[in-house]
Amino acid sequence: MKTSVCIIGGGPSGLMLSQLLHLQGIETVVLERQSREYVLSRIRAGVLEHGFAELMREAQCGERMDREGEIHEGFIIAHNGRQSRVDLHKYSGGSSVVVYGQTELTRDLYEARDRMNGIVIHNAEDVQPHDLTGTPYVTYRQGDEIVRIDCDYVIGADGFHGVSRKSIPKTVLKEYEKVYPFGWLGVLSRTKPVSPELIYARHERGFALCSLRSQVLSRYYVQVPLSDSVEDWSDERFWEELKRRLPEDVAGRLITGPSIEKSIAPLRSFVAEPMRYGNLFLAGDAAHIVPPTGARGLNSAASDIYYLYHALVDHYKKGDDNGLGNYSAKALARVWKAQRFSWWMTTMLHTFPDSLPYDQKLQQTDLDYLFSSEAAQRSLAENYVGLPF
Ligand code: FAD
Ligand code: DHB
Repeated sequence: MKTSVCIIGGGPSGLMLSQLLHLQGIETVVLERQSREYVLSRIRAGVLEHGFAELMREAQCGERMDREGEIHEGFIIAHNGRQSRVDLHKYSGGSSVVVYGQTELTRDLYEARDRMNGIVIHNAEDVQPHDLTGTPYVTYRQGDEIVRIDCDYVIGADGFHGVSRKSIPKTVLKEYEKVYPFGWLGVLSRTKPVSPELIYARHERGFALCSLRSQVLSRYYVQVPLSDSVEDWSDERFWEELKRRLPEDVAGRLITGPSIEKSIAPLRSFVAEPMRYGNLFLAGDAAHIVPPTGARGLNSAASDIYYLYHALVDHYKKGDDNGLGNYSAKALARVWKAQRFSWWMTTMLHTFPDSLPYDQKLQQTDLDYLFSSEAAQRSLAENYVGLPF
């Protein structure tokens, strides 16, 4: 097979890039290790920043998102018996976020790829990029057959555990990592959400988050030790713990029901530099991970895709390689800002097992300062709705 751009990974990053390039007449092939059903069964992001929503529209995939997604102009932080609202709209100059599940958005991208006869190969095993500093090609196995795809560029959009980043020599790649001593236990339930706006709750028993996918589908999280497994958490235990961490009036109106999905995600901050090696470009979780507290992960992937998309269009349409040359530096500058924000939100809102009484005082002071300073709220809002691409 031969194509212009071979994209490893059929998650939101890979599919979005493939769709955008297709609309510009640039050929791509997407290689995905899992089945489509498996990719669509992963419950992950729920909050999309303005720039991501715009990119969905540019990819001609925004119709259902605009119909079914909810625009949120603020969220609540519950702390020390108080419920303080962050007015995103007021403090970000009129911006907002869209609550629309990653699962739905991925489904929309798959459907668009199908409509346009885009090539997305599922169950591609042993995917391997080759000759990245020369004339690149990618091989994969399907059953007993090894298939080779010749291409101009390889895009590594294969998530944190993918093969792309690992194919950059260790002498070239520098990795920065911080692992947090806890995870998030998430539950999806077909119940009416407890609050029309998200509630991020700081509590001495641990952080909790009330989120949603629609007015009939709730998504809740509680901070748990890394040693816990999903089997340790019956639905009953989960609801009880969630209620204990929420303000009394919120806990009192929480509607519980059977979980339809339950999973634990460890929290990690990670950046790999550079994001380009020869003709390989990394994008999304393949190059960087944030703890989910600031809802930045998918949104950081979006800016990578935006930069790559424009750089590849400039290359193919104008013979201009500046965008490709600057990609890594440009993407990393924004990535590190998302890292800083996610680290800050995580540090302010979680209970750390080894924290000193001094640290706890600082956490509370951080929150007191936030809600006493318009400048601090403006800073939070500007980061949460997404810094400009
Ligand atoms: P992925 O979604 O990981 O996709 C990579 C794809 O590559 C996968 O389909 C995988 O199967 C495939 N792949 C892997 N290895 C190979 C291989 N060797 N060959 C071929 N294919 C391969 N972000 C936000 O912005 N807002 C939120 O509210 C938010 N909430 C979150 C909540 C939770 C609980 C979690 C876990 C994450 C959350 N995130 C959030 C982060 C967000 O889900 C990720 O940043 C996003 O999935 C990244 O997309 P991606 O396409 O880069 O990577
Ligand atoms: C969700 C996840 C987040 O990390 C976040 O900050 C907000 C919402 C969610 O899954 O709904």
